[in-house]
Amino acid sequence: MYITQMKTNHLTEPSGFDTSTVTLSYTVAEAAGKRQTVARIQLAPAPSEDQVCFDTGLRSDIDNAAYGLEYPLTPRTRYFWRVFVQTDAGEETWSPWTWFETAKALNEDWQARPITTPLGNDVHPVFTRHFTLDKTCGAARLYILGLGLYEVYLNGKKVGEEVLQPGFHSYDLWLQYQTYELQPQQGENTLEVWLGDGWFKGRFSSRTAPSPYKGEYVLLAELRMRCADGTEHIIGTDERWQVFPGPVQMDSIYDGETLDMTAGCTSAAQAIPAPLDMAKLRPRLSPRLRIQETRPMRIVSNDPLILDAGQNLSGWVRFCCDAPRGTEIRLLYAEHMMNGDVFRGNLRTAQQTFTYISDGKAREVSPRFTFFGFRYIRVEGWHGTANEADFTACVIHSDMERTGCIETSDAAVDRLFENALWSQKGNFLDVPTDCPQRDERKGWTGDAQIFCDTALFNMDATAFYRKYMQDMALEQVNLGGSLPCVVPAAYYGVNGTAVWGDAATIIPWQVYIHSGDASILRVQYPFMKMWVENIRRETGADGSGYLWSGGAQYGDWLALDADNVHGGTDRTLIATAYYYYSASIVAKTAAVLGNRADAALYDQLSRDIRSAFLSEYFTPAGRLADHTQTALVLVNYLGLYPEGTQERQRQALRRRIAEDGFKLQTGFVGTPWLLGALTMCGCEDLAWKLFLRREYPSWLYEVDQGATTIWERWNSINPDGTMNKDGMNSLNHYAYGSVASWMYRYMAGIQPDENAAGFRRIRIAPYPDRRLGSCRASVNTPHGDCTVTWCWLDERWLMLDVRIPFGTEAVLFLPDGGERVHLIAGAYTYTLDMPEFHPFSMMSDWRELLDDPRAKAVIESHFPKAIRGIAFQKELQTMDQVVRSPFATLTRETVDLIRRELEEIRD
Ligand code: BGC
Repeated sequence: MYITQMKTNHLTEPSGFDTSTVTLSYTVAEAAGKRQTVARIQLAPAPSEDQVCFDTGLRSDIDNAAYGLEYPLTPRTRYFWRVFVQTDAGEETWSPWTWFETAKALNEDWQARPITTPLGNDVHPVFTRHFTLDKTCGAARLYILGLGLYEVYLNGKKVGEEVLQPGFHSYDLWLQYQTYELQPQQGENTLEVWLGDGWFKGRFSSRTAPSPYKGEYVLLAELRMRCADGTEHIIGTDERWQVFPGPVQMDSIYDGETLDMTAGCTSAAQAIPAPLDMAKLRPRLSPRLRIQETRPMRIVSNDPLILDAGQNLSGWVRFCCDAPRGTEIRLLYAEHMMNGDVFRGNLRTAQQTFTYISDGKAREVSPRFTFFGFRYIRVEGWHGTANEADFTACVIHSDMERTGCIETSDAAVDRLFENALWSQKGNFLDVPTDCPQRDERKGWTGDAQIFCDTALFNMDATAFYRKYMQDMALEQVNLGGSLPCVVPAAYYGVNGTAVWGDAATIIPWQVYIHSGDASILRVQYPFMKMWVENIRRETGADGSGYLWSGGAQYGDWLALDADNVHGGTDRTLIATAYYYYSASIVAKTAAVLGNRADAALYDQLSRDIRSAFLSEYFTPAGRLADHTQTALVLVNYLGLYPEGTQERQRQALRRRIAEDGFKLQTGFVGTPWLLGALTMCGCEDLAWKLFLRREYPSWLYEVDQGATTIWERWNSINPDGTMNKDGMNSLNHYAYGSVASWMYRYMAGIQPDENAAGFRRIRIAPYPDRRLGSCRASVNTPHGDCTVTWCWLDERWLMLDVRIPFGTEAVLFLPDGGERVHLIAGAYTYTLDMPEFHPFSMMSDWRELLDDPRAKAVIESHFPKAIRGIAFQKELQTMDQVVRSPFATLTRETVDLIRRELEEIRD
């Protein structure tokens, strides 16, 4: 047995992060026991038993997923902690020491003053400071913030591995500074800081305004060095710093970067004081943003020179360049190739171009202050012959450990899963964004909440969302309760719509369910409430009671059942269903936090919304007035229908999809819950049918078209390989990648139980379908790996293997329709005699029936006319529609006979 995955605030050994709340977590691995009986946590300023400053003693109530540390921490101090665990099998062990380091105190004065450049707002500055150390010092700390973006070098070497710092946050509301550990040398040292424009100072968000934040270059840095004799040296930014014009001529999140190595570093000037609201400074919450992996580039064309990363990704291409002085090389980034060239028509106004002007020295080149969403690059002006080995694609995203993995017997399904994962990597650059390539790249809240469950299965994104929730909370306070549709808002000015605004409740709730860390709910609760109260205010003001009929609403964005982007579902229905959903999340959150009064209040509110919804949208007999796929998905998923009508709603959803030709029609609202709603209400066969469908519109259509990430539109690329002509057409948009959540939760059947969050209790309920031979899913929960594998041995027998992690329990719903089994940690294998599968009914597609000889024989003997074709048969979808056609002229007895015989056919 050993202890692993030791994290502080869901990060491994974080330095200089916000520690206003501290959650420690760890996992017990390879134990013979099933659960922890007692544990003990020690905290010390050095990794030594003798220096322990806090000790829990042996306790039986230490939660390994989220232990809330209550200890008055000293600023700028590294703390070490370790944990002792004893199991129910009598094993015991101490973990190794791990650490976290506190940042500056919130009210602590900076021994530094913010500075800027006198060279003008258009010249990218490089700030430098020389200093001499006459003694050796231990590792120093640099507390630093550079705006818009910065990179620091000590004695010519880049400090830290991070890129695009200080990342993207609501700069107008808070400013995150970073902490680095670095090692100055005895003697002469030079600190050098390059500044870029980025999100803060450059063109961003609006297509017309030059810079939403109207930012100017600012640098604030405090270098603290402690020498062996105990003396401390501090170098802070002030007018003693010098500034040079740097070689970066232009940088922009959308447009790219121009790096002219023949320019810059001419005359030095003295830095000047800059205005900076020091009260907004906060230690960082953002996980590190780094190059996470690299990929080779392949030359696919020499004229023009085009290279392919083999994968749509976010980041940049690094290249080795040995070209004569003055050579200008341009890299044009694109997601798609068409007619032998890169296709850049879907970037809208974003230029996505990196220009390099050589000074004649050989070096590795990459940009600093931008990133690109791309698979291909076209290279212009390359000197000599291009070699693939000279180019490397660098994949950039925030630090998040991979936790989820799914593999099946079907390569297309596996690719779909990978595509969702790659869209996560491509859009988790400090902020969860809609897309990484066109002139948008914004933290659209709707997209973020839709994908949140999938993201948390795929990776440990708790810390990533914690930072995003801070942005959301501050933006909400700024708006008096409403939530902007993009966060950080960057003055975009659109806010308070349903589904998008509901990110305020859904994201914290999902993060809690996956991590088991209630401190996240404690921090976010006021803002979750604030969002619901904001709707209550709005609905109250426009007199619509509990229906949310006002406001501008996006509706079922990009759904296929209307000729516009808003889809065909009534927007008040969607908004009210989400109002209900958010109010019930707030009620559940209040209960978790022990706030009984609020729990009752919001429970009542959700009941009131429910009653209003039912009386507005259901006939007295229980028919839903709006019968789009999305409307039916919402009511089935949320149980939002009159009591006793469950079967009717289920049938209505089934019928709707069948009559739509078994094609999904859903957009951003219906799609994330479509397969879940079908599976939950007993129509898993139909969920599988939609999931495995290959023709447009479907997930696998994209895969068959060669997608390597999830597209924004169901038809982003047409069957003939041409791009959809609409300008709003990204090939890396994760929203529909939320299908991976269904893959984890239903295909494999791994679900965290809401009543024992953080996978403390796991619901295992797989829905194996004979159309897929096998599936293996594993989720590294806060307690260790939970794995479900199923595999068809033949048409009848299914092998099911389940692994439950240490310290958890599970309820397994055996897919043979049999028992419910209670499990504790361990490995369990079952061979199950599965119920016969009856593939056909009157709701089947009549074309599929005619394709099957057994079904065809039934129809031929009772209804030969259907084989020859009755009038208007082509326009009908289900067998039920065909037999009920006035041209069918069948007796009720014959219809019954056909139904019975079709239903008897088994696979
Ligand atoms: C974004 C979406 C977003 C939508 C809302 C688009 O431009 O790319 O993903 O949610 O706008 O209207």
